[in-house]
Amino acid sequence: MRTPVFELHIQPMFRSIDRAHMTFFTDLWDYDSVVANADDILSRIDGTGMPPDETGGPWPDEWIAVFRRWHASGHKRLQLGTATFAFSHTGPNNSVTATGTLPAAGFNGWLQLEKETDTAKTYVLYYEAPDTPVPGTPPAFALKERYPDSDTRSVFARDSTGVQQLH
Ligand code: HEM
Repeated sequence: MRTPVFELHIQPMFRSIDRAHMTFFTDLWDYDSVVANADDILSRIDGTGMPPDETGGPWPDEWIAVFRRWHASGHKRLQLGTATFAFSHTGPNNSVTATGTLPAAGFNGWLQLEKETDTAKTYVLYYEAPDTPVPGTPPAFALKERYPDSDTRSVFARDSTGVQQLH
């Protein structure tokens, strides 16, 4: 069964309004804060009124089960990768490319659109570790995200070394 991962399956369940209303307690989008308060959060989403009825009401049981399984399975999270980035234009498309080598065999890596504004878009490079170590040589990667060149916004990439502008 797929192990739940904070950035993919837990953080997106918390809406902006949940985060905004709960800042007096903790930051529901921050990994360390959610791990530190996971028992309290679980007891609130599982029966004592969070999120409140006035703002959308409780989670479906399946969401609560995912949070519970994430808590029980050691709070898996993604890590930021490291790559050489390039921006190119071919035919009707723009492309963002990330090349590098994964930290170890069994890792997965991808470029994910993280943030969009009217003038800019930011991609983040994520690595996901395997649940158990996999023997073998760390594989090289060349990851590409394509989009139509009618989109002329600036492009940024974020990895473990920081944020850089590509276009
Ligand atoms: C999934 C989303 C949410 C989670 C996990 C959550 C979690 C919690 C937790 C753990 C507490 C106890 C804090 C403490 O011990 O000091 C709490 C209290 C509270 N929350 Fe939330 N909350 C969520 C969403 C919301 C939203 C959307 C609102 C308001 C619109 C809200 C309003 C409150 C209020 C007013 C309290 C204090 C009163 C009380 O204890 O019932 N929460 N919440």
